[in-house]
Amino acid sequence: GIDIGKLRAQTGLVTLDSGYGNTAAYQSAITYLDGEQGILRYRGYPIEQLAERGTFLETAYLLINGELPTVDELSGFKNKITQHTMLHEDVKRFYDGFPRDAHPMAMISSVVSALSTFYQDSHNPFDEEQRHISSIRLLAKLPTIAAYAYKKSIGHPVVYPSNDLGYVENFLKMTFSVPAEEFGLDPVMADALDKLLILHADHEQNCSTSTVRLVGSSQANLFASISAGINALWGPLHGGANQAVLEMLEEIKAQGGDVESFIRKVKNKEEGARLMGFGHRVYKSFDPRAKIIKSAAHDVLSALGKSDELLDIALKLEEAALSDDYFVSRNLYPNVDFYTGLIYRAMGFPTTMFTVLFAMGRLPGWIAQWHEMIKEPGSRIGRPRQIYTGVVQRDYVPVEQR
Ligand code: ACO
Repeated sequence: GIDIGKLRAQTGLVTLDSGYGNTAAYQSAITYLDGEQGILRYRGYPIEQLAERGTFLETAYLLINGELPTVDELSGFKNKITQHTMLHEDVKRFYDGFPRDAHPMAMISSVVSALSTFYQDSHNPFDEEQRHISSIRLLAKLPTIAAYAYKKSIGHPVVYPSNDLGYVENFLKMTFSVPAEEFGLDPVMADALDKLLILHADHEQNCSTSTVRLVGSSQANLFASISAGINALWGPLHGGANQAVLEMLEEIKAQGGDVESFIRKVKNKEEGARLMGFGHRVYKSFDPRAKIIKSAAHDVLSALGKSDELLDIALKLEEAALSDDYFVSRNLYPNVDFYTGLIYRAMGFPTTMFTVLFAMGRLPGWIAQWHEMIKEPGSRIGRPRQIYTGVVQRDYVPVEQR
């Protein structure tokens, strides 16, 4: 008997791959991504076509079920989601307990985790019905959970879901308390948000999705797994970048709009400064989502008749970076987060809500990936190895002798 574990440790046969730059942990049929050429497809459909012609709920159905829905399938899916938009009244008490200035990402991950206490009837990942109902509940309730978090942050009473409205329109109403048509430029706003959600819906094995899979691989329930994904998304190197981009633009504006000196600071790596919204682990050319979002930013701002000094700063930053050898030689291009914040801001969302909107968009991808993992024959618990670098062995010394 050879002890493989021992052999691995002794011979260094374990692969050390910092940040998993070159390790495929799963096989997946959901999203295709070619980072060299800037291609992104969900279930084979180019992201450009889905963003231009599809809807978010159609895309969610596609990701989770593998095919675009027929008319009947889509209306059945929408009806089910509409039936589950309400939160149990007791859930409101969670919000009462959070501090007024709590970050909405912390609130939504906590409340999503708490859903597992309300729906103990659907914890079994191997029961298809239970998987299905918990997925519907999450898709239906996350916009309500998100809108409640926003209301809490401004000290306003919550607005209950209106089941006569579409997914995005309902969310806008619960958030801003007014019907879409009074809120701003109605269809422009709802369409732009729907499109942004589509663009965020999946992105293969990013940090949050891999987190959902890893937690789910222990057979934890879907609510617990998704809550972990939300927390992974929160960080500024991942979904939190959209908030960080806006803060960066504000900082540059406050310092007189001097783009060149900010670029210098980034290149000199002063105080760890990075050009937020630039760079990507996989894309080594333009992020295809960023291209679509850039033009959407122009559309939304012009439809609202708003000019935004921060958009001008963003355009200058992009231009400066794309012609600078530091960024060019490292293949650093704008990513999905570079322009989204400008659109969210124009819609009236505070910066702390930006990553929440990302989470709403990414939810169907997380769910689809969790289903795929659970259903895969022979799937096993995720358990990376390590290279131990500590002391080999030593003897315990009683505290008074140390
Ligand atoms: N600004 C300045 N320099 C950068 C940036 C940036 N945004 N991104 C990478 N670099 C530099 C690094 O300093 C490094 O330079 P070096 O070789 O001189 O040390 C080189 O480019 C490679 O960078 P890594 O950190 O090794 O790249 P990695 O693949 O690990 O990181 C990441 C990818 C996290 C996205 C990174 O580009 C980054 O921090 N970007 C800013 C944050 C951001 O926008 N995140 C959102 C990503 S998209 C998403 O999650 C939805």
